[in-house]
Amino acid sequence: MSTLKGRNLISITDFNKEEYLEVLDIAEGFEKNPKQPILRDHVVATLFFEPSTRTRLSFESAANQLGCRVLGFSDPGATSVQKGESLHDTIKMVSSYADLIVMRNPKEGSSRYASEVASIPVINAGDGANQHPTQCLLDLYSIRKTQGTLDNLNIALVGDLKYGRTVHSLVQAMCNWNTTFHLVSPEELKLPSSVKASIKKAGLKYYQYREIRDIIGIADIIYMTRVQRERFTDLLEYERVKDSCILTAPMLQGCKDNMRILHPLPRVNEITTDVDRTPYAYYFQQAQNGVYVRQALIAAILGAK
Ligand code: CP
Repeated sequence: MSTLKGRNLISITDFNKEEYLEVLDIAEGFEKNPKQPILRDHVVATLFFEPSTRTRLSFESAANQLGCRVLGFSDPGATSVQKGESLHDTIKMVSSYADLIVMRNPKEGSSRYASEVASIPVINAGDGANQHPTQCLLDLYSIRKTQGTLDNLNIALVGDLKYGRTVHSLVQAMCNWNTTFHLVSPEELKLPSSVKASIKKAGLKYYQYREIRDIIGIADIIYMTRVQRERFTDLLEYERVKDSCILTAPMLQGCKDNMRILHPLPRVNEITTDVDRTPYAYYFQQAQNGVYVRQALIAAILGAK
């Protein structure tokens, strides 16, 4: 039985390196054999206070393939939140209807709070600009699958490194391996100093760049991100930086053969569609890997693996 039984996953740092690897190994089994209805008597609640395509639907697909029933909402406007019900009371109620809560909420720290209120495990499906740990685990899965290892890699992170919660989680996780980070962003969207401090604390190196072309020949992984319009308080600043890091197919000349492009998606215009036809594009398979990784998490946390 997994040591993850009954655990919450709120921040990627809630799990250690061995636990990441355990999830990836279980996910490999689900990739080989996805239909394993081993949780027939269980209910998973998906509470999405913020829009999502991949995270919600892949969690629901994962739960369904495990034989779970799924309940929840994707529009808080159609719930009693609209009448003023607090997050506290919503979580208390859902705790009596389900065995596991998967929650996305725009407020940083809301998932941690929900885990303190809930009597069942809580998985953070994204809390504001803070953390997106399940995306991080599927990113690790995709990196290991494409590179054959998580060690000694050059990881380039490109775009909105300030508000991109997937970047924050991925940097913290990759600090468990001998990673060199290459950070490409405009001045306004640089990686927060608290996240850079995690790199330094791990004794690892990072380099900062302004242009994507500077990392093309170096990177094993280019992790592209969308500029997060919804996190800006000043929309003029968003307009100024929104097109600052765009990857096109001709720019890939000179990249390493093993290089793969990841993106948590959705994309807006930061990867042009001609890149999709190159052998380096991996973002759609990456999203597919999310189903196996979320199956692994649900199964481990509910004690079926
Ligand atoms: N990667 C990701 O979180 O996508 P969604 O916002 O569509 O869930």
